[in-house]
Amino acid sequence: MASSEPAPSALTLPASFRWGVSTAAYQIEGAAAEDGRGPSIWDLFGRQKGRIANGDTGDVACDHYHRYREDVALMRRLGAQVYRFSVAWPRVLPQGRGQANHKGLDFYDRLIDELLGNDIAPWLCLYHWDLPQALDDLGGWQNRDIALWFADYAALVARRFGDRVRHFATFNEPNVCTLFGYGMGWNAPGIANRRSFLQAAHHVNLAHGEAVRTLRALAPGAQLGAIYNRQVCFPVSESSEDKAAANVLDACWNRLYADPQCLAEYPPELADVQEFVQAGDIARIAQPIDWFGLNHYSPIYARADDSALGFAWASPPAGGALTGVGWRIEPGAFRDELVAAYGRYKLPIYVTENGFGAKETLDETGAVNDTGRIAYLHAYTKAMEAAAAAGVDVRGYYVWSLLDNFEWGSGYASRFGLVFVDYATQKRVPKASFDWFARLIDANRR
Ligand code: FCB
Repeated sequence: MASSEPAPSALTLPASFRWGVSTAAYQIEGAAAEDGRGPSIWDLFGRQKGRIANGDTGDVACDHYHRYREDVALMRRLGAQVYRFSVAWPRVLPQGRGQANHKGLDFYDRLIDELLGNDIAPWLCLYHWDLPQALDDLGGWQNRDIALWFADYAALVARRFGDRVRHFATFNEPNVCTLFGYGMGWNAPGIANRRSFLQAAHHVNLAHGEAVRTLRALAPGAQLGAIYNRQVCFPVSESSEDKAAANVLDACWNRLYADPQCLAEYPPELADVQEFVQAGDIARIAQPIDWFGLNHYSPIYARADDSALGFAWASPPAGGALTGVGWRIEPGAFRDELVAAYGRYKLPIYVTENGFGAKETLDETGAVNDTGRIAYLHAYTKAMEAAAAAGVDVRGYYVWSLLDNFEWGSGYASRFGLVFVDYATQKRVPKASFDWFARLIDANRR
């Protein structure tokens, strides 16, 4: 252990607290054209020039489709109690609906059985952004029918895996895939239009509600939740225009999904979403869920501009500690977010993502001594303990991520893993943070 490294300590957390890691299908699986998988919007987006750093694609990624046994063995070595992953919709339904792909379903059978055999609970997320291209060709999230296509997909997954999977999530970060995908054009499918964004957002909300209803019926007794990316939104200056912009960003980022889903109301700042709301929709959306997944990294910043969205995305102001990918390190904002999310939604919280990105290489000894990530995880888990002491019902913490992986528009250069992946050889090299986190789990395992 490096002398400057904070010692992992026993934290005061509930007896049922669970530790784990999170990943997503498109970011790790690879095997993009194998065993009948259909294309997703990310496959096509990645082929458009200039969309992804270095022209990277998810074609091979971490080759997890073939190496899942080795990856589960790493989780076991880490001491993970939970593995949160996503199913690739186009792998199990290549056209998004209709004929299921049995080879795709078989892969998740093997993965789930391997996890259970290693005493790791599988937490299955239905949607981590890889929409089947065939559905995008029909309008994707802008087509209202997608709520029912998504429910059919949920039914297939529940029938097949509901006997072994006890925790399901509908969506990972509906805000990022709709705001970046339809409002700002940064993510697939690359549309930048306010109306498209709000239309997609409403249909995602409807799809969430339909999927919860379906999972309740077909996977009785399973614990159902959704995963929300929530970060405090700061104005870049004290001007009233920037403050108003930060409030609009907060509505788009933090409230447009969790509010209708958990509180049966849309943020008043986004009244034009009502154009898409039909009689009965809010009741369809607001299906009770059992847990609230919170993904948190860093505060985000807004500046006033005259765009249709009503804000511009801004860099953090100068000063203050940053991660290796330029995200502001503020564990106090994490504690505050836990308090705020619990106060607003009153659901048990699982931290379904938190982690540290960096541009890393192997050192001359073939290791990665990622002291910055260790310091981050230390500070953020302490902040979570402080939130628990303040009365927040927080029940789990799943690091993003087990492995370095395909980090969307940043490609492979941004690394968030506890395990380094040498993409040329697919060799996995646990970083110093892997050992540190293993000791933290060990000190807190119940
Ligand atoms: C989150 C995503 C996840 C990963 C991390 C760094 O927004 O859910 O897939 O990209 O950020």
